[in-house]
Amino acid sequence: MAKTNWSRRHILSLVDLISNEYDIILQTAASFREILSGRTKKVPALQGKVVANLFFEPSTRTRSSFELAAKRLSADILNFSPGTSSLTKGETILDTAKTYLAMGADIMVIRHKQAGVPQAIATEMDLKKTKVSVLNAGDGQHEHPSQALLDLYTICTLLDRDRPRLELLEGKKIAIVGDILHSRVARSNIWSLTEAGAEVHLAGPPTLLPKMFLDLIKNDRKGKLLLHWEVEPALRAADFVMTLRLQKERMSQHLLPSLREYHQYYGITRDRLKLCQPHVKILHPGPVNRGVEISSDLMDDPEFSLISQQVTSGVAVRMALLYLIGSSN
Ligand code: NCD
Repeated sequence: MAKTNWSRRHILSLVDLISNEYDIILQTAASFREILSGRTKKVPALQGKVVANLFFEPSTRTRSSFELAAKRLSADILNFSPGTSSLTKGETILDTAKTYLAMGADIMVIRHKQAGVPQAIATEMDLKKTKVSVLNAGDGQHEHPSQALLDLYTICTLLDRDRPRLELLEGKKIAIVGDILHSRVARSNIWSLTEAGAEVHLAGPPTLLPKMFLDLIKNDRKGKLLLHWEVEPALRAADFVMTLRLQKERMSQHLLPSLREYHQYYGITRDRLKLCQPHVKILHPGPVNRGVEISSDLMDDPEFSLISQQVTSGVAVRMALLYLIGSSN
């Protein structure tokens, strides 16, 4: 694997990532993708390094994807589950992180239901002058960088399989539909897609898409951010549609009349898809509420759905992230 000029120790947010960094991630992921499709599937890039998977919140695909990525890089991996850990005996999150530090963790992959926890642990690690890298695997409603990066990689490899790069998205229309309010995936995607120069159209019911989203990006982004309370204008001539799960566990009030009604007004169906470009593709970070965000048959239709490619891309992209930050420490 070629050495790159990567200098970031932590990946906590995409807000200040620049084009060159996106391109390094995309190209590194493409090289790993090649290794993953070969016979050996494993490289010694992180041999001797310890990756701690600290998931304080439930997860299937992100957690398994990071675990497999670390194993493919030959790192040693420590898995942590809050239900069976000393957290149940009153240990704080910071003390848990310090325990893993004492065990020699080089990289901590952190998911927590509270926004800011990965940042707090990264700050603590820096204050202690350790070389530990922290990777945000989803914090509250804040950000989910690795998901947005695998979405980006999935789209870019579709546009140019051998040379995925940010500029391929310039001028593309991308609709993000659903529960934007609670979605850390949407927040991270807004940063990467607008940095790429795409036109990002957010669509969802007003209760799940407050106007404050328009204040998110400043004029210095290359792309644009637009907001719609109806789904049709977002879908019209769209190249890609990202659907988001209705995050019932994060809804403290009744923000929706019913799931059936949501599907009726905002669900992605074959009929609605006719508004988009003929080559349109659909993404969803999973887990999916079948028949709510997207009609069940569409979700399984390989002509339109990129959902299983997203899961496959996830391993290569997470290998790239672990490799880049792991070789910088
Ligand atoms: C997302 C998450 O956890 O933020 N899922 C994921 O990481 N694949 C989206 C979601 O939970 O809806």
